Amino acid sequence: MVNKITFSPKPTHPIGIFDSGVGGLTVAKAITELLPNENIIYFGDTAHMPYGEKSPHAIKSYAEKIVEFLIAQPCKLIVIACNSASVTAFKRVQKLLPQKQFVINVIDPVVQHLVAEGHHKNIGLIGTKRTVSSAVYKKKFEQIDPSIHLKSLATPLLAPMIEEGFFNNKISKTVVHSYLNNPHLSKIEAIILACTHYPLIMNEIKSYYKGDIEIINSAEIVSHAVQQFLKQNYLLNVSKKSPKHEFYVSDYTESFEQTAKIFFGTKLQLKEKNLWK
Ligand code: DGL
Repeated sequence: MVNKITFSPKPTHPIGIFDSGVGGLTVAKAITELLPNENIIYFGDTAHMPYGEKSPHAIKSYAEKIVEFLIAQPCKLIVIACNSASVTAFKRVQKLLPQKQFVINVIDPVVQHLVAEGHHKNIGLIGTKRTVSSAVYKKKFEQIDPSIHLKSLATPLLAPMIEEGFFNNKISKTVVHSYLNNPHLSKIEAIILACTHYPLIMNEIKSYYKGDIEIINSAEIVSHAVQQFLKQNYLLNVSKKSPKHEFYVSDYTESFEQTAKIFFGTKLQLKEKNLWK
């Protein structure tokens, strides 16, 4: 039984965004670019990374604590900037909130976008073991547009590799190319990067496909879903004050700080906050 949290969202309140580590910063970055007035609070659960290898029970309990923390700030909207947490804990987070629409995951906006565009019928997907084994994307496409065929491949080495700062180098290129070379991913017209860490290995993915297929990066698509939600709910921040961006991690590591800078594009002030102590 989950206890509901009380909250009264206001336009000046920050948007709460979380992920297991740096990956969700790709989503945070896209949100701040599209909505430069918005305040954000980011939580990277580095103490429990990688989520992709954790049990559903563990991911749900991590998400619950993080959402309680974000709502207490108080945040006006929660963005689950992690596919593994979105497939596992979205319903749990919805139940926590007084109104379930105040949480956005990274899956529905992408599925809706691809169905609305209707450009591709054979789509590939790479993501964590958790995301791929849940088959959530497949089920959603089957429900909305059964003519779309999805071929999914778990690529568990990628998120930890990126988190450790291995991208844009020979090692990351070899690892990425050997995954993408899997025959299961042949004859696809587009590929969904179903892990928010993967935009950081965009160069490696592009160098494999050489422009032959479309690469779907969820960060930008999700930022538009956030904008639409805030508009519809009269929650866009119109204040003239310069926006505040806060970044928390559950376990501070130097590699997170360095990678975070690259993900977000500017130097970040990381605060350590262990919600489990
Ligand atoms: N960025 C995450 C995702 O989108 C999770 C990576 C991980 O912690 O395994 O799935």
